[in-house]
Amino acid sequence: MMIYDSKSGTFTLHTRRTTYQMQADGHGVLLHLYYGPRVGDGDLSYLLQYTDRGFSPNPSGSGADRIYSLDTLPQEYSTCGVGDYRLASAEVEQPDGSLLLDLRYASHEIRPGKYALEGLPAFFGREGWETLSILLRDPCSGIEAELLYGVCEEDDLITRAVRLTNRGDRPAALCRAMSLCLDFNRADLDLVTFDGGHVKERNLNRAALRPGVQSVGSLRGTSSHQHNPFVILCEQDAGEDHGLCYGAALLYSGNFLAAAERSQFDDTRLVMGIHPHHFRWTLAPGECFTAPEAALVCSPDGLTPMTHRFHRAIRQRLIRDPYQGKRRPVLINNWEATEFRFDADKLVSIAREGAELGMELFVMDDGWFGTRDDDCGGLGDWDVNEKKLPGGLEALVPRIQALGMGFGLWIEPEMVSERSELYRAHPDWALGAPGRPQAQGRSQLVLDFSRQEVRDHVYAAICRVLDSADVSYIKWDMNRSLSDVWSAALPAGRQGEVYHRYMLGVYDLLERLHRDYPGLLTEGCSGGGGRFDAGMLYYTPQIWCSDNTDAIDRLRIQCGTAFCYPVSAIGAHVSAVPNGQTRRAAPMETRGVVAMCGTFGYEMDLGRCTAEEKETVRAQVRTFKDRAALISQGDYYRLTDPFRDLTYTAWQHVSRDRREALVSLVTGSARAALPFIVLRLKGLDPALRYRIDGGERIYDGAALLHAGLSFPLIAGDYQARQLYLRAVEA
Ligand code: DGJ
Repeated sequence: MMIYDSKSGTFTLHTRRTTYQMQADGHGVLLHLYYGPRVGDGDLSYLLQYTDRGFSPNPSGSGADRIYSLDTLPQEYSTCGVGDYRLASAEVEQPDGSLLLDLRYASHEIRPGKYALEGLPAFFGREGWETLSILLRDPCSGIEAELLYGVCEEDDLITRAVRLTNRGDRPAALCRAMSLCLDFNRADLDLVTFDGGHVKERNLNRAALRPGVQSVGSLRGTSSHQHNPFVILCEQDAGEDHGLCYGAALLYSGNFLAAAERSQFDDTRLVMGIHPHHFRWTLAPGECFTAPEAALVCSPDGLTPMTHRFHRAIRQRLIRDPYQGKRRPVLINNWEATEFRFDADKLVSIAREGAELGMELFVMDDGWFGTRDDDCGGLGDWDVNEKKLPGGLEALVPRIQALGMGFGLWIEPEMVSERSELYRAHPDWALGAPGRPQAQGRSQLVLDFSRQEVRDHVYAAICRVLDSADVSYIKWDMNRSLSDVWSAALPAGRQGEVYHRYMLGVYDLLERLHRDYPGLLTEGCSGGGGRFDAGMLYYTPQIWCSDNTDAIDRLRIQCGTAFCYPVSAIGAHVSAVPNGQTRRAAPMETRGVVAMCGTFGYEMDLGRCTAEEKETVRAQVRTFKDRAALISQGDYYRLTDPFRDLTYTAWQHVSRDRREALVSLVTGSARAALPFIVLRLKGLDPALRYRIDGGERIYDGAALLHAGLSFPLIAGDYQARQLYLRAVEA
């Protein structure tokens, strides 16, 4: 619900459990008043403190009023160079060369439904949403900022985006355009970020805010393995089930910045948006720049409800049909089994084994095209290598389908190898400045996706492949960070636009695929989880979570990922042991239990499994299919914290009606005299009684929640247990 009170100038946004309030004050400055647990509609501006503070200037228009300063008041969208010294939201190089921007309230509009953003990912839906648009204007230049707010009452979600327009008569340059600015009148908060690197993505790091700016971000052209565009600010004693938490996710897959500043007066500002480094966008008169969407969830009662709200909202309001709520096929991918060394018979044999064990989709990974026999060449030439696959996909796909399986394909559209026909024909299509040899990453260069003709060429090539056979899935990979970012299509003064234009180009192709191949399931991937963000989930309903498929390392990687992103979107496969990354040999049962906390599939040569292992696999596939709705649509609970302690890791999926639950537990490396394991379960209905795995004994829901469930001692390394709970009919 959105309420505008014209007397006080306050805007109040209510979700079911939270309230957000701001106010256009007598100077037209839009002040942030409150975001937190739900309160009434009353004007909260009594919270503001007006005091003359040294070295905090008074803006023009405030006359001799020395207690009025942009530097001390909470801003809804902070400006630059006119007296607020904290993190700026926007910076504009004006035609006179100044970097000054002042934004004052001009008008607003409240309308039903959710705003959309041209060319960018965004939460969607007509039902259950309202939009508020507030127009701010710089009194001295022609710069306008339209602040957009989407409120989804049911899911406690507030989205924000910004459109910056130049209404002046000369070009200006945007040097910074944050999507989100959120001020808090407190600094006793922890900042939680999700960090790591290739094969160790999204490890949780939590620390109290220190004076000054703390930030994470990416300058790699992707949201990156190293940091994630999702952060949390929470009370210092907040835990899974208590304490005030704010989660902020940026729907953007390129360079980003998330920065929190604890200021001199112990208040806090969080900003999030496109990273301003390498960003400079020319706004000609009349032109508009749209900053990507950011999504906010405030949970008054801990981290778990925050996670649930993001999961539900992403599943139902970001992931699009037909995969919204739809069970994804259990797939078998040949990458870890064969890498580049395969022929049609080998692929069919892997698929056959998978089909016999109940799998539904075969995915042919890298190496099927051009001269791609290793990772040094072939990218860009999307023609089937008939030496490996005689007769092309036209011959291979029916053989796979005859096994009762769908067929999926790996592509890496954004890249080109020097050793390729495409590069020989169009060397200038790769990003790179004239006269400066480019850095290579995995022996490949990056295509300039900011250019329409490059995208059109790649799209036509992909369509030729997709149209040649019945392809129901693609894995869209991206295996290097950007460097040498310079585009032949833009003049010298506009090279600061290339990173963002590149990202818009990627979104453009993904959108075309979504439009032209409506049933196609696309899995995002960037060397595993290098582009796992809410922006990508709008186009790719699942994302390969990490190139690290070791079940024990995955406990952390998947747990960190699932703080914001739903389990149904987390690409997770069982692979062979010893694991390629860690050389660890976790048991098949354990690998299955861990992969089930994701999209679930296999990535190994099943022909090498023993008969006993195959029976385990068959049972796992059956279990996953039986429990898929519970796992992917239910609520996910962390029962332990794998970032603190890997002695054992446990989590739980609970159906929305609380009548079903799946408890999963994985132990770490064996140790003598371990403590007994007692898990206090979560999410169950205390008034219901449950049976475990169809056993005789009946457990009281309240007892399982408060007294817990104990596990007999588990011997050996990396063991797993999975228990299925079902409510007993009264
Ligand atoms: C990186 C991906 O994450 C892997 O799963 C695999 O597809 C390789 N690329 C293929 O080159």
